[in-house]
Amino acid sequence: MIKEHFLSITDLSAKEIWQVFHMAKELKEELKSFGGNAPLLKDKNMVMLFEKPSLRTKLSFDIGISQLGGHAIYFSPQEVGLGQRELAADVAKVVSSMADLIVARVYSHTTLEELAQNSRAPVVNALSDLEHPCQALADLFTIWEVKRYQDLSGLVMAYVGDGENNVTHSLCLGAVMMNMEFRCGSPEGFWMNGQIVSKAESFGGKITETKDPQEAVAHADIVVADTWVSMGDTDEEVRKERFRPYQVNAALMSLAKPDAIFMHCLPAYRGKEVTAEVIDGPQSVVFQEAENRLHVQKSLLIWLLSRQLKHKLNNN
Ligand code: CP
Ligand code: NVA
Repeated sequence: MIKEHFLSITDLSAKEIWQVFHMAKELKEELKSFGGNAPLLKDKNMVMLFEKPSLRTKLSFDIGISQLGGHAIYFSPQEVGLGQRELAADVAKVVSSMADLIVARVYSHTTLEELAQNSRAPVVNALSDLEHPCQALADLFTIWEVKRYQDLSGLVMAYVGDGENNVTHSLCLGAVMMNMEFRCGSPEGFWMNGQIVSKAESFGGKITETKDPQEAVAHADIVVADTWVSMGDTDEEVRKERFRPYQVNAALMSLAKPDAIFMHCLPAYRGKEVTAEVIDGPQSVVFQEAENRLHVQKSLLIWLLSRQLKHKLNNN
């Protein structure tokens, strides 16, 4: 049953990620050329259950399904009380008896697993403490666009900052699935989750973890940062102190390749994990990256519902 869902970027194979990217490219071109898309998800209902705030994720899923002829229903953090007012399992059974898709942003990844195990509709991870796979898909798609649709194999992605982070984990997995090299520069105690690293290594990719941000960034094609304090983190003061040497500034960017790009999922904190000079400078692609959340997630939703339909037809 869990196969129907998208909780980790590894729930798609590399081949399937490319299918999603090619359809996302077509959807983006169709939207830009004609101002709209064919209503491929006409009358489909998508329920969004969010335990945390959001701008991009809520916006892109809501507008995305509308552009495809479907409808979104959003529940804010106060409304449902996943696991508190009601068991996540019960929520999944009720919601999936009426809706076609569940998009959930949660504190604990286990809440997503409980939703998925009890849902008849595909469940999509809109960010958990462990992964942010929709963000990583949009990021890899953006790199593909910037590289003019050439193969991503051999590119070096350097992430600097909090390694034990949802975005880092999904990027590490996604990058090695695309045959890219992944480097993570983080202070001791903030390295990537060991299980994620083992999973990434099982794809045969090259992964380096280092305390030295300069080593991480040297001759990289892509430099990535994220907030030092993620939603749900409580040790803000410790983090700000420990991460100070990991700021992406012009001096650090100058160690990457001359045509390297800078990426950040946003929201960003200028003067903390990145300087304004870098994020607002010519190497930054952060707003292209944010817009691509829309195009890639539309493709993902179509892909997930098509797969579910195929499974249903095969089982009848
Ligand atoms: N990048 C991202 O997921 O942004 P939001 O938290 O605003 O959705
Ligand atoms: N790592 C960040 C990503 C925000 C989109 C967080 O979890 O808050």
